[in-house]
Amino acid sequence: MLPRTLLILIIAALGALLVWLAFFWTPIPTRPLTQIQRHAQPPFGQTPAGGDFVLHSAAGKAGLTDYRGKVVLLYFGYTYCPDVCPTSLALMAQALSSLKPDELARTQGLFISLDPERDTPERLKEYAPFFHPSIIGLSGSTEEIAAVARQYGASYMKQKANADGHYTVDHSSITHVISAEGALVGNLPHGSSATQIVEAVRQQLASSPSRQ
Ligand code: NI
Repeated sequence: MLPRTLLILIIAALGALLVWLAFFWTPIPTRPLTQIQRHAQPPFGQTPAGGDFVLHSAAGKAGLTDYRGKVVLLYFGYTYCPDVCPTSLALMAQALSSLKPDELARTQGLFISLDPERDTPERLKEYAPFFHPSIIGLSGSTEEIAAVARQYGASYMKQKANADGHYTVDHSSITHVISAEGALVGNLPHGSSATQIVEAVRQQLASSPSRQ
């Protein structure tokens, strides 16, 4: 048997903990990945067609046709993204870094901003190559971005700004694989490893005649 005073102390401590939990504990306010993934699914019965587009890099107009002959890894995100984009771009960069020089010469990473209000082509020029020099950032008007996102089945939703004017953009997190001929041939889900990305690139490189 515990002494009575000790028992009272334990009950009091547990009570205090419960009160603290009830008033102060809040789950970490990150959106669960399952929700992002659910958004990432194209509407039932629809397969994104992919296809050509023209947007803007810091160097001027940039379109998918500029990269014919290269396997393109396409990712939609935004530079202020706190976690999902940096993780995905780091994996893309890791994959690009593990390609042989001749393979890398035939591979291009593209990062299309879903936040064109803040992500100017100049800002994207600072951001994307930071991960890997073979990744180029593209922006455009709100309408241009929406059209390309629709083509590829990328979904996104700008969230309400806080008091400081900061906002986040919820978005799907898929690495789209585009063949050297410009066809959307694969969608690597969020969390795909660098090895899986490399495999997807090599598969396309092997099935595309080299233009060199
Ligand atoms: Ni992101």
